[in-house]
Amino acid sequence: MKRWWEALLGLLWVQVCWVKAVKVEQSPSVLNLQEGANCTLRCNFSATVKTLQWFQQNPGGSLIRLFFIASGMKQNERLSSTMNSKERYSTLHITASQLEDAATYLCAV
Ligand SMILES: *[C@@H]1O[C@H](CO)[C@@H](O)[C@H](O)[C@H]1NC(C)=O
Ligand SMILES: *[C@@H]1O[C@H](CO)[C@@H](O)[C@H](O)[C@H]1NC(C)=O
Repeated sequence: MKRWWEALLGLLWVQVCWVKAVKVEQSPSVLNLQEGANCTLRCNFSATVKTLQWFQQNPGGSLIRLFFIASGMKQNERLSSTMNSKERYSTLHITASQLEDAATYLCAV
């Protein structure tokens, strides 16, 4: 019997990126999840930014824009993102993670 619930989701790699001289810190850097688990990735930034984007890069290399967010919360099926410009951070939340979520996640300002 295929014990799908024990399958490891693989790796969610996140990276640190610097764009337009704003320093962005992202955590955690590597995440191992069980299928079905929830997780939250977070980006802190060093300066006030108006908008932020979250991207997903699949093992094949293609870059998909998940969210373009200016404030508050946005949701798209199992993914949601929050932006708090005042406290200079944004989160990406994955609910009930699936194998297809194994990817690199980036935030860019
Ligand atoms: C972001 O800032 C919070 C609050 O200061 C801190 O707890 C967290 O570790 C920071 N995360 C990153 C990725 O720098
Ligand atoms: C994940 O989050 C959803 C929605 O908040 C919740 O219903 C579910 O119980 C959570 N799952 C786990 C494994 O914590």
